[in-house]
Amino acid sequence: MTCYPDASQASSDRGSGADGGIDMSRTITIDPVTRIEGHSKITIQLDDRGEVVDARFHVTQFRGFERITQGRPVHEMPALMARICGICPVSHLIASAKAVDDILAVEPPPTGQDLRRIINLGQIVQSNALSFFHLSSPDLLFGFDADPAVRNILGVARQNPGLARDGIGLRKWGQQIIEWLGGKRIHPEGIVPGGVATPLTAEVRDRILAGVPEAIAAVERAIAWYKTDMLRWEDEAATFGNFRSAFMGLVDRHGNVDHYGGWLRVIDADGKFLADRVDPKLFNDYIGEAVEPSSFLKSTYWKAMGYPDGIYRVGPLARLNVADRMGTPRADEELEKFRWRVGRVAGSSFHYHYARLIDTLHAIEKVEELLRGPDILSKHVRSTAGINRNEGIGVSEAPRGTLMHHYKVDDDGIVQWANLIIATGHNNMAMNRSVLQVARRHVKGDTITEPMLNRVEAVIRCYDPCLSCSTHALGQMDLQIQLLAPDGKVLDELSR
Ligand code: MG
Ligand code: NI
Repeated sequence: MTCYPDASQASSDRGSGADGGIDMSRTITIDPVTRIEGHSKITIQLDDRGEVVDARFHVTQFRGFERITQGRPVHEMPALMARICGICPVSHLIASAKAVDDILAVEPPPTGQDLRRIINLGQIVQSNALSFFHLSSPDLLFGFDADPAVRNILGVARQNPGLARDGIGLRKWGQQIIEWLGGKRIHPEGIVPGGVATPLTAEVRDRILAGVPEAIAAVERAIAWYKTDMLRWEDEAATFGNFRSAFMGLVDRHGNVDHYGGWLRVIDADGKFLADRVDPKLFNDYIGEAVEPSSFLKSTYWKAMGYPDGIYRVGPLARLNVADRMGTPRADEELEKFRWRVGRVAGSSFHYHYARLIDTLHAIEKVEELLRGPDILSKHVRSTAGINRNEGIGVSEAPRGTLMHHYKVDDDGIVQWANLIIATGHNNMAMNRSVLQVARRHVKGDTITEPMLNRVEAVIRCYDPCLSCSTHALGQMDLQIQLLAPDGKVLDELSR
């Protein structure tokens, strides 16, 4: 990692206030945040007394993916939507295929649904593994103040080779599921309107099952390692986005975590239901989207509580908080320990890491359960139909949280309008508040210090934002941090 101030801004603005007093009007900007997928900028606003008053996570690129879908035949939507993101194509395929099912007014056959579930869980495992092992474990292993030269996955491989190996193995297992069932690893095309393109073979089923014991062992080793080290991070957990908010996720009819379907459940910070057994297709009645000029990323909010009070979080932490149980034995055992350690409704976003591991364990167990189902090799995997509705909504759980696709089509099935709400949009207000909390704790004076920068980046990584998704842009991007004066002047600036 290299860390360099932008000379044109930082050097001229730092130490301004030449009329004797120190210019106390400031903003800090961090750009780019390393080890986050995508391009973004963080600004930290100071007041006259040099206190942090506001912090914002801006997403600065926009490619208008919702607009380019207009005029396309709706059958093409799943394959097209998979191209929004190279990180989580399967998540978009699933939500999109469900929205098209709705327009066709069909349900996929049960085996088709189960195969979709398995591919979705493969994506959960590989993406969670990337986030925990490759992106966040360096901070957890070496501490947030360690030399950036060792604080990366190569450093992890040297210091704790088993941990790095487990991360690589889990990711590979998840990717193979996607590849073997989906067709292609990066933009799988096996998921189609009405179900999936091809039935599962016994050979592929057995190949995936053969990897299950090692995948479970790998994530259980990571959970054990995480728990022995938890005390070291107590101080960080207290300020890493530790606040009261609502949480949202999908649960099945038993109240278990459901990554594919089920009902929308929203709880408040005390665990009281704000909504339960809500058909996810009705999400527009409950969720508002606020546009802020500073960012192309819309902030969603819980309508009944208004904007910005209706702040809620999604993703692994929210899934664990809203559910009664995970619904698989090993993950349920770990969920009990999780709740004993961090509370029934975990409030600190630091616990996304811990939750992500338990979410991963559950996903592996669930894949095994589905693969052992008596009808999993059935040839009936796809329903076909014409256009039967002019509007469709598909909702599923992506690795980062609840994903919503909403389309309107004409009678020929040509897309007229599309709206996507992605996990990073749901979490946008929470990420801003988390950056604010960390900045208040760590900003000292009018320069960006290394400890502060490390923690601002790390708190955002808790949410594992997928910025290529959130802006509906294509490809990879990067990020920046700015410290701003009350008058908006840039006091200090760093890019990585
Ligand atoms: Mg949208
Ligand atoms: Ni994505």
